[in-house]
Amino acid sequence: MLQKECFLKLLLLVVSLVVAASGADKFSRQDFPPGFVFGAGTSAYQVEGAANEDGRTPSIMDTWAHSDSVITSGANGDIACDQYHKYKEDVQLMAEMGLDAYRFSISWSRLIPNGRGPVNPKGLQYYNNLINELVSDGIEPHVTLHHFDLPQALEDEYGGWISQNIVKDFVEYADVCYRMFGDRVKYWTTFNEANIFSMAGYDLGFLPPTRCSSPFGYFNCTRGDSSLEPYLAAHNILLSHASATRLYRKKYQNIQKGYVGLNLLSFHSVPATNKTEDVIAAQRTNDFFMGWFVEPLVHGDYPEVMKKNAGSRLPSFTALESQRVKGSFDFFGVNFYIATYVKDNSEGLNIEPRDYKADMAVEWQFTQGNASSTNRLLPSFEIPLTPWGLQGVLELFKQNYGNPPVFIHENGQRTQRNTTLEDWPRIQCLQEHISVLLDTVRNGSNVKGYFTWSLLDVFELLDGFRSGYGLYYVDLDDPELRRYPKLSAKWYSRFLKGGGITPDGGIELSSNWSSLSSAQVMK
Ligand code: FCB
Repeated sequence: MLQKECFLKLLLLVVSLVVAASGADKFSRQDFPPGFVFGAGTSAYQVEGAANEDGRTPSIMDTWAHSDSVITSGANGDIACDQYHKYKEDVQLMAEMGLDAYRFSISWSRLIPNGRGPVNPKGLQYYNNLINELVSDGIEPHVTLHHFDLPQALEDEYGGWISQNIVKDFVEYADVCYRMFGDRVKYWTTFNEANIFSMAGYDLGFLPPTRCSSPFGYFNCTRGDSSLEPYLAAHNILLSHASATRLYRKKYQNIQKGYVGLNLLSFHSVPATNKTEDVIAAQRTNDFFMGWFVEPLVHGDYPEVMKKNAGSRLPSFTALESQRVKGSFDFFGVNFYIATYVKDNSEGLNIEPRDYKADMAVEWQFTQGNASSTNRLLPSFEIPLTPWGLQGVLELFKQNYGNPPVFIHENGQRTQRNTTLEDWPRIQCLQEHISVLLDTVRNGSNVKGYFTWSLLDVFELLDGFRSGYGLYYVDLDDPELRRYPKLSAKWYSRFLKGGGITPDGGIELSSNWSSLSSAQVMK
């Protein structure tokens, strides 16, 4: 009997060793559930150009990029990649690459130049053309309504997102989009990075509409209130999102059969030490960062710790608002680039006044890379890879928020422009994150798709054209703005077409499963 048990154990061991040696870590897209979407993304102001053409008026992004902004170093999106004129060519690139879906955003001030009122026929025509082109190539449009680019007219008129007036105007804009494009668009995201927009635009003041107050903020803002406005803007964003979703459900969802979601950026936070206060600090950071929006949408109210630390500066929901906000989503969009380590800074809670960041009461530290990232050279310009953070944020959704459908809307690697088309750091980023994603799917996360940022090297929020995240390089010195595939575009394309990925990021041909070196991928 004992002998038999020993033999069985031995057999099991041998089988698992053989499985390990035969490359159990190798994966391909066939390992993902049917219908799992792979795509790439951009956003209107960052890619379209034609900023002053065909009736478009400025958004708060235009104003910001044209101010003496330090971060974009004089660059702006007036021309960007000129996708407005080159959309056919770009859709062709997507089709050749084998993308299932394209995530892009609509420029509100191109479609409705004054923010409300008449629709601009040229704007309407442009988005109809783009959507038709995508659909005819079998590429699913995933559309964002607000990617940091509120019409400047509404900012000037009543202060944009800090006024409740915005809710009505946003819902009317959403209505136009559902009505005009909803026969072909099934995936609507109301806001890109609602949390970053509220924090960076109204507390730290380095993104549009660059509002902040001293001593907070990274720049000397001329107006704003860092203690109050981030909370106010977020609140109005939540109410706008809920109303726009409600409208879709009442008027369109039955016929159009689409979905509405909201997008957030996650800096998935883990404790810097195993001290209890740091463990609590990490939970608090996730509450402040993700819970700020996810808790109201899932449970109908802000996290307790936010109510406690921000006190009366945090707006409250009426019973009706809470009821309407709760459940007003079909999916969440998550952007993930890097995880953070945090330490408790509760002492900061004794200081007055405080901004949103001080209410969080933590010290943040970006990860200095981890063991899995050291097998290739990663100059400091690039983002240290922390794919475990992607797993962390998906676990958070699974365990704390009822495992709703999630799309990874952005993930990618930043490299210096004009260096090389052989962008191994980007390939490594794709490989490590897609691999982790597969693990999370196997562990029961309800993740539905993955979009890499970005299709092209676009006008970047943090540094204009000095860096790029693109699968395609755009030659800005060429009047034609020609696009060139980087190595990552070829790698992604092979993956999309069924190629297997080996643990070191190499890609195999599906036909003979022979490993490809970088030189071979280039061919
Ligand atoms: C995100 C933005 C996106 C892009 C990337 C790099 O925060 O959503 O527009 O610029 O960062």
